[in-house]
Amino acid sequence: MLQRWHILSFLLAALSAPSFSLADSSFENTAIVRTVDLGGSLVHVTTTYAVKALEPGQTVYHIALDENERHKTSWIEAKVKGQQGALRMEELAQDEDSKSHLFAVTLPKKLGVNGTINLVLDTVQTHATYPWPQSAAQKDPQSLKYESDLFIVSPYHTAVQRTKIKPSSPTVLSYTTPENVDQFTLESPVTKSGTTITYGPFHNIPSSSNAEFIGEHQQVVVVHYNFDYPVLEIKKLQRSAEISHWGSNLNIEDKIHLYNAGPTLKGHFSRLEHQSQNFYRTLGPHILASLTLYLPAGIRNTYFYDIIGNVSTSHLRTAPSVGKNARGNQFSVLEMRPRYPIMGGWNYTYTLGWDAPLEDSVGWDAANEKYIVGVPVMTVIPGTVVTEAEVKIVLPEAATDIEFISPFPALSSSISTHITYLDTTGRPAVSLEYKDLTDKHNGIIYVAYKVPLSAHLKKPLAVATAFLGVFVFALTARRVDLRLHKR
Ligand SMILES: *[C@@H]1O[C@H](CO)[C@@H](O)[C@H](O)[C@H]1NC(C)=O
Ligand SMILES: *[C@@H]1O[C@H](CO)[C@@H](O)[C@H](O)[C@H]1NC(C)=O
Ligand SMILES: *[C@@H]1O[C@H](CO)[C@@H](O)[C@H](O)[C@H]1NC(C)=O
Repeated sequence: MLQRWHILSFLLAALSAPSFSLADSSFENTAIVRTVDLGGSLVHVTTTYAVKALEPGQTVYHIALDENERHKTSWIEAKVKGQQGALRMEELAQDEDSKSHLFAVTLPKKLGVNGTINLVLDTVQTHATYPWPQSAAQKDPQSLKYESDLFIVSPYHTAVQRTKIKPSSPTVLSYTTPENVDQFTLESPVTKSGTTITYGPFHNIPSSSNAEFIGEHQQVVVVHYNFDYPVLEIKKLQRSAEISHWGSNLNIEDKIHLYNAGPTLKGHFSRLEHQSQNFYRTLGPHILASLTLYLPAGIRNTYFYDIIGNVSTSHLRTAPSVGKNARGNQFSVLEMRPRYPIMGGWNYTYTLGWDAPLEDSVGWDAANEKYIVGVPVMTVIPGTVVTEAEVKIVLPEAATDIEFISPFPALSSSISTHITYLDTTGRPAVSLEYKDLTDKHNGIIYVAYKVPLSAHLKKPLAVATAFLGVFVFALTARRVDLRLHKR
């Protein structure tokens, strides 16, 4: 009997799942404000939901993203307004009729009738803008288009909502005026104040994450704006990190396929024009001449080469090693100058690597007699999407009992054996693959392993326990992951 009841409740749950996106009267949105900060290859969106419970005992609130928005979203996190910790969030199946995606957010406390809470949803969209016009001459400005759905959809009734779109440069070339929205506003549906374009306020919107509302009212709005920096995309990042206990060294090497996703260069590249623009500091915004990278403190033997060879035009200012406790406050700054300026539509493939003291990244877990090494997923280039990433962490020879934790879900992960010509048995390696990484994916992969006594260190490795706290926390207290990946 019990079993049948279980099956029945399972069936009921399955049947009722899609109806979440239809009218749901357990909450009302008293106000929703969405702020879109337009960038180049990354767009940051913050949506605040002022929520009121209408039925007793509410513990789960549903956030909806429509199909377009879900497709662009590479990172998502919900918090209570003014608080630090992310809320537990789970993506439900896509609704077949409306194509909306629902996320179930677990509230920090149960809400009774008329109970309120303010939720903040942070998302990062990738590949969400495109150059318009599609090509530009060396001296031309750069402009991009961004498309958004007008209404913020929700399974609940919304009393009032607005969307603010903020370009980073003061020049807005055009924006769409929505049509047929008289039902929701008696005033102008769009206003521009300074550089901010505001859609709404729209009032008294019924449950909207359903096919009926979307079919009848949803529409696309387009903002055309100038963007004063190169639109950069790393089409592929291959990071390899090699741990050497013998040399007490962590070598990190990035092979990078960089692409300038701005307007393609109209006509031929003129070096003379480039030099004159450079001299008068009037370089076109779509031209990448140099990049500032923040590498770890304490690095040595930094190298940077492209397919032609060593690139010697860059400038590195190394910060001394600061140990693990000050991690994150001190950087070595690399002023990276590619061999030639990268114009829109051009690729640049290069390798950047360095050595770092292993003790800055390793901890010792005495309880399990394991080393734990932390390797950052990537070196963030601000405002740049990493479309594909592969991270390989090569462990010391004869390492066993390998465990690893990614700071967010990987597309795939594996443990293999990496054989170099000096090794006899090969070295185990942990490999992870990711897609569409943003500046929010700036996390650390932790790998724990044992090394047999015979393979132990030539130089004793100084291992701090304070650092270990961070690792153990990451290994044991990791919450259910909230960040998502595009499939
Ligand atoms: C909730 O608020 C409404 C309107 O303010 C009020 O009429 C109702 O009595 C309240 N219900 C409870 C349970 O507080
Ligand atoms: C590469 O260039 C750097 C200067 O940036 C120089 O210090 C280094 O010795 C060069 N390496 C090789 C292998 O030529
Ligand atoms: C840049 O690389 C992509 C492949 O990632 C290729 O399709 C494209 O043609 C390249 N562009 C140029 C100008 O070589």
